[in-house]
Amino acid sequence: MTATDWLLLLHPVLIILFVYPVVGATIRLGILARERRLKIHPQPPSVGVEHADHGRWLTSGVVVAVLIALLYSFVSKFFDAGTPFAGGGTRLALLLLVGAGTLASLLALWRVRKAPYRASFALLTWAGVLGLGSQPEIWRLSDNPFSGEFWSSHYWAGVLLTGLLLFSTAAKPEIFKSLRFRRLHVSAGVLTAVLLAVLAITGTRDLLNIPLSWQKPAIYACNFEQRTCRTPPPAPAAPAPATSSAPSAAASSSASA
Ligand code: HEM
Ligand code: HEM
Repeated sequence: MTATDWLLLLHPVLIILFVYPVVGATIRLGILARERRLKIHPQPPSVGVEHADHGRWLTSGVVVAVLIALLYSFVSKFFDAGTPFAGGGTRLALLLLVGAGTLASLLALWRVRKAPYRASFALLTWAGVLGLGSQPEIWRLSDNPFSGEFWSSHYWAGVLLTGLLLFSTAAKPEIFKSLRFRRLHVSAGVLTAVLLAVLAITGTRDLLNIPLSWQKPAIYACNFEQRTCRTPPPAPAAPAPATSSAPSAAASSSASA
């Protein structure tokens, strides 16, 4: 495996090692917060705050992992000698700058307190992800919501999940205070859980579809519409042994008889 192949693994590894374990804890703490509010079971007052803290880390982990996946697509295509990168180094630098700006908006979202600032930085972070994702280098399966492929697109499920998590993070004080926001949040939470399952399936499918660098020339020469690849030429026949071939052939045929 080359360095680019290892880099491809950074996104799934971060998701598996960090994001999904935090998802489990966040959902569990959310259920406990609900049990506490509805007085189903006595729970410590900290469960709601703990849930929100885990949620904030979950949002940040997802944004960072998504940025890594997007920037990987740009960097790998820039260094791929086979495909010219539109705009060259200047455009790549600009895309990296947008990535850095998106990360800065996420950090600002952690710090700001007032509602208009929280809404603005959450929207800016999401706009950064959408802006980078709309580039032609990003594999989106389909951009048409009326096609089946759109609904099985790893990219679209990913950006929708990012948007939902950013909304919950930005609206944290309102979810604590208002019942309407909490109901909206729980509905968003159910959709979030479904999307996390969809992303696990489509992400693994995509990983299966991406060849290693040295396999690319052969795999991309295949016809993906007809699902055919060029059959390799037959292997050259093994040269006949120079001496005493006849007795051994006779011996083997008599043995088999
Ligand atoms: C996997 C995603 C999430 C799920 C499934 C989820 C689920 C829930 C549930 C079931 C509740 C209890 C609602 C009730 O009392 O009726 C809740 C409350 C809450 N959630 Fe989430 N949540 C998620 C992510 C987040 C995120 C990312 C944040 C923000 C950082 C967040 C912030 C809150 C807050 C502030 C409350 C109110 C806690 C309280 O009243 O003590 N959640 N969530
Ligand atoms: C929270 C869950 C996840 C989110 C939000 C997410 C989001 C994304 C996004 C937005 C992209 C960029 C689209 C693209 O470049 O094609 C992407 C790419 C990718 N994801 Fe995920 N993903 C998640 C989980 C996973 C998992 C569990 C795997 C595999 C086990 C995975 C494997 C991949 C692969 C192989 C790519 C293509 C890499 C590339 O071309 O940059 N993802 N993901």
